Amino acid sequence: AEGPWEECFELAVQLALRAGQIIRKALSEEKQVSTKTSAADLVTETDHLVEDLIISEMQKRFPSHRFIAEEASAAGAKCVLTPSPTWIIDPIDGTCNFVHRFPTVAVSIGFAVNQELEFGVIYHCTEERLYTGRRGRGAFCNGQRLQVSAETDLSRALVLTEIGPKRDPATLKLFLSNMERLLHAKAHGVRVIGSSTLALCLLASGAADAYYQFGLHCWDLAAATVIIREAGGIVMDTSGGPLDLMSCRVVAAGTREMAMLIAQALQTINYGRDDEK
Ligand code: IPD
Repeated sequence: AEGPWEECFELAVQLALRAGQIIRKALSEEKQVSTKTSAADLVTETDHLVEDLIISEMQKRFPSHRFIAEEASAAGAKCVLTPSPTWIIDPIDGTCNFVHRFPTVAVSIGFAVNQELEFGVIYHCTEERLYTGRRGRGAFCNGQRLQVSAETDLSRALVLTEIGPKRDPATLKLFLSNMERLLHAKAHGVRVIGSSTLALCLLASGAADAYYQFGLHCWDLAAATVIIREAGGIVMDTSGGPLDLMSCRVVAAGTREMAMLIAQALQTINYGRDDEK
């Protein structure tokens, strides 16, 4: 009665809450930490455990659905978004925070059909905040409707970003000079909280005016994109063109004017594409 993907949405919420419980408990325990693409790109046994739990439960209920997930991709699975119903999962977003017990850690579950994002569920595990967005039906946090900021002036903006995993001198120079450009344009501040998905949820809540990043992945973006759009915001490519989920880069803002100002200020940092790895 509630639309075709209602059962999927309910399962996503259930599994995000269950995963959150596991992550909350594991946060204070000893962890097995390994590195992936760089010394700052971390994974723990909990990332694997949670991803396996989420996918196996979904597969039981929806055996024909497809999956794109962070740790499966790290293990070599291809990231391709076909027209089939596809779950796009980050079991722990903010793994570095998780490792350090910095309490800003989320589970992110997005769902796309016909290559269009239908809903997103992001659970802030320690603050127990459940963010949801469904196409055409609004965005909510623990039942409260979300609305983005209406700010259009960069000199009155609070901007969020994330560092990204590459730490070679050339990348760091570009990263810092992008931040410098925004500060020169007199942005009120730039914040880095260690979780792309939760930063994007803060944007959706109107607690910040813009977000940009190079080096994030489709599983950091999928769920958050629905939540931001349903909160009235804009999600676009750093070139100012339409969002490309696989392009490893994004600008998001409460208004198109703000998103364009950020996009114009940025120099590109090349991270390749998720679907070419
Ligand atoms: C990462 C975090 C980090 C951001 C990276 C993401 P993970 O996700 O959100 O803050 O800079 O781009 O990939 O690896 O913790 O799931």
